[in-house]
Amino acid sequence: TISQRVDSLMRLMTLKEKIGQLNQYSGKNVTGPVTDRNVNMLSDIKSGLVGSLLNVKGAKDTREIQAVALQSRLKIPLLFGLDVIHGYSTVFPIPLAESMSWDMDAIRLAAEVAAEETAAAGVHWTFAPMVDITRDPRWGRIMEGAGEDTYLGERIAKARVLGFQGERPGGINSVMACAKHFAAYGAVSAGRDYNDVEMSDHQLWETYLPPFKAAVDAGVATFMSSFNTINGIPAAAHDFLQRKVLKGDWGYNGFIVSDWGGIDQMIHWGYVADKYDAALKAMRSGCDMDMVSRSYLENLEKLVKEKQVAIQLVDDAVKRILYKKFELGLFEDPYRFCNVEREEKAMSNPRHTAAALHVAERSIVLLKNEKQLLPLQKGRQKIALIGALANAKRDLQGNWIPNNDTSKVVSIYEGLGKYLGRDANLVYVKGVDVKGADTSGIGEAVAVAAASDVVVMAIGETWDMSGESKSRAELSVPGQQEELFRRVYATGKPVIVIMLAGRPLVFNEIADKAHAIVYAWWPGNEGGNAIANVLFGKYNPSAKLTVTFPRSVGQVPLTYNGYKTGHPLSSSPNMLYKSGYIDMANTPRYAFGHGLSYTSFAYSELQLSKVSMQQRDSVILSVVVTNSGRYTGEEIVQLYISDPVASIVQPMKKLKGFRKLLLKPGESATVSFSISAHELSFYDKDLRWIAEPGRFKLMVGSASDDIRAQADLTLL
Ligand code: IFM
Repeated sequence: TISQRVDSLMRLMTLKEKIGQLNQYSGKNVTGPVTDRNVNMLSDIKSGLVGSLLNVKGAKDTREIQAVALQSRLKIPLLFGLDVIHGYSTVFPIPLAESMSWDMDAIRLAAEVAAEETAAAGVHWTFAPMVDITRDPRWGRIMEGAGEDTYLGERIAKARVLGFQGERPGGINSVMACAKHFAAYGAVSAGRDYNDVEMSDHQLWETYLPPFKAAVDAGVATFMSSFNTINGIPAAAHDFLQRKVLKGDWGYNGFIVSDWGGIDQMIHWGYVADKYDAALKAMRSGCDMDMVSRSYLENLEKLVKEKQVAIQLVDDAVKRILYKKFELGLFEDPYRFCNVEREEKAMSNPRHTAAALHVAERSIVLLKNEKQLLPLQKGRQKIALIGALANAKRDLQGNWIPNNDTSKVVSIYEGLGKYLGRDANLVYVKGVDVKGADTSGIGEAVAVAAASDVVVMAIGETWDMSGESKSRAELSVPGQQEELFRRVYATGKPVIVIMLAGRPLVFNEIADKAHAIVYAWWPGNEGGNAIANVLFGKYNPSAKLTVTFPRSVGQVPLTYNGYKTGHPLSSSPNMLYKSGYIDMANTPRYAFGHGLSYTSFAYSELQLSKVSMQQRDSVILSVVVTNSGRYTGEEIVQLYISDPVASIVQPMKKLKGFRKLLLKPGESATVSFSISAHELSFYDKDLRWIAEPGRFKLMVGSASDDIRAQADLTLL
């Protein structure tokens, strides 16, 4: 068995060699602050002092470096890890955008394609998926997750893990996944990256931990600890979370890597005095691999000799890592993933491009469509295409891509041009840059708009405005783009705005005035084609928001499943002693679950199999959904549950089910949800997962603020 092979190898290893397996270095590209420039990577690899490298990619480069590892005494192959967040060579929409599809097959497909290309590039391991729930669009890493909801986050975590890893470990077209960042990183104070997290146990268990558990259940190979503290304890040294919960209660048998310098940054936190102390705390609390900081390499031997760290802890960490190397088949063939021919083929696979288009179309959210302005009719109108982002390539890819290759990107301008072909009656003008104060191009843009029948404007963020360390205090549209919109809008022409961004932005004036708004996020290489297909109705938009869009940054964090409070705001204009703002509504600009289609859907015949049930029972809730419009389209039917009276005050509603349906005009389908005590449960004050007897409200709708039918259920 693999365990026996690991044990026999361990018997041959010196303590130094064991510690080497726990040490990870970065190649040339850096994805974190470099503190130690005196590392002689190749010589350390040859001496058996390195177990893994990140940021080395390509069949040729990984082969060359693997060859160095094979010169070490025990010839233990290296693990190559890389941040493949939304595609390797074929760039897919950012993960947040993909989540808007609510389509687990599409999400899994994106991860499968990414895995195939990554594995062909000699890389064994991606640092994805990020399963951090976040409710704060100021935090730049919101772009990497699956949005604000735990239920949806669990399902997406599973789809992504299975997509990256395949059904069984060691597949030649798969990579190991990494559930990150453990834990609660999405709740950093003030949305500022790397900040502290202060959180109740209840919130941690109810909201933030479940997607990690779902990743474990899906067989995720690795975990990464987060940069934040959790109630004062840095995650990398969180004994309770890493040893008790993850490796203990959840029975997780993969390994945990720290984040970049996550171990020695505990010195900056003021949690440890030096690297010796940092290594001690991290190892004792279950962190197996040290990303970049060399704290283990420099101190673990001494810590073991001084009996500060039990050798069993080191052995356990080494075994977990070696196990994965065996599982990947690296001891049989360390160059298994380093085949240049295979690599070239994988990177030019037309199936991958088609997959990127498929996923991009499903990730684009139609937020507004006044008087059915969309879809546009091919060849009918003269179109003014305005905005720097309409002609951009790199910005369509978004942050966190492994290759700086824009050669496969289809810009919006190109996508529209291609779609329209000979019928193209399209004039492009930039207007203004995304950032900066220069407004000198607005006049020309206004003239082009005035001479057109319809205006399509691309507005939003450049690729480097959301992502790691890209927190923003303002969520406004950058630069002079709103001014450009204002002036173009004043021409009186119908204006369609395509928003491109890595986070929900606040754009009230545009939201009020624009005739149609398409939120395309950062849609990846096929963005231009996907947007053209959506604008002209070749693809009928089906995505729905997985994050709430606030009206103002002052409302953040704002989520659909907030609380009523003891001073609930009613529709009465009297604001006295109510939980609200004197200068703004409590409601979001766009609610969780919102997203339009070119068709419409009617809900009818809600039925509940029984009005009451026992704890061990379940009931079936069904509803008939009919496509009542003129186009074939997809609806995401959402089930929400509320528990009006409970021993822990419950959110106004919680998502507990969804189905995505494709219906032709006039076609109906019955959607059924099975509801058991599990769907009615929450963590009580002793952190037990329980369902309390009483009355529950079951709600089915098209969005969290668009409930179409409801029923009461009593749990006996
Ligand atoms: O995987 C990332 C992590 O999400 C943030 N810091 C750097 C790591 C490795 O690049």
